Amino acid sequence: MGHLSMVAKKTINEIVDRYKDEETPLMLILSDIQKEYGYIPLEVQELVSERTGIPVAEIYGVVTFYSYFSLKPKGKYVIGVCLGTACYVKGSQQVIDKFSELLHIKPGETTEDGLFTLDALRCIGACGIAPAVSISGKVYSKVSVNEVPQIIESYRQEAQK
Ligand code: FES
Repeated sequence: MGHLSMVAKKTINEIVDRYKDEETPLMLILSDIQKEYGYIPLEVQELVSERTGIPVAEIYGVVTFYSYFSLKPKGKYVIGVCLGTACYVKGSQQVIDKFSELLHIKPGETTEDGLFTLDALRCIGACGIAPAVSISGKVYSKVSVNEVPQIIESYRQEAQK
């Protein structure tokens, strides 16, 4: 969002107003902002604070506590590698390490070109196909380390279309 545009400010003010009669509106406000923009940078938290009277520290605490909220924009493709028990015993740590190595980012980070975000996930309910990897909603089953380069490449190509 960079410096907040007039439009962004207006939208955020509208979101805040939407919940002005709620006793505890913060989660509702932040959820709507996350949905609208995909992340909640500090300057937006400051604006929400100004409008609601809720201290920035409290808002920041909520944004950083829940992994659903994000302080930074995510990549075009979000790669989630499950590190739940079933996936872990089938080698998902090596799979996430390979993504990390090839993309030069750690879990939680986004590549400089904005293409990929790498996330470590808890069980995503697909233990039967462990290790499971979810990329922007598509689930890959029984992913091996050897498949990782090819998976990344397919998304690089898709991005160029
Ligand atoms: S542990 Fe990975 S899907 Fe359940």
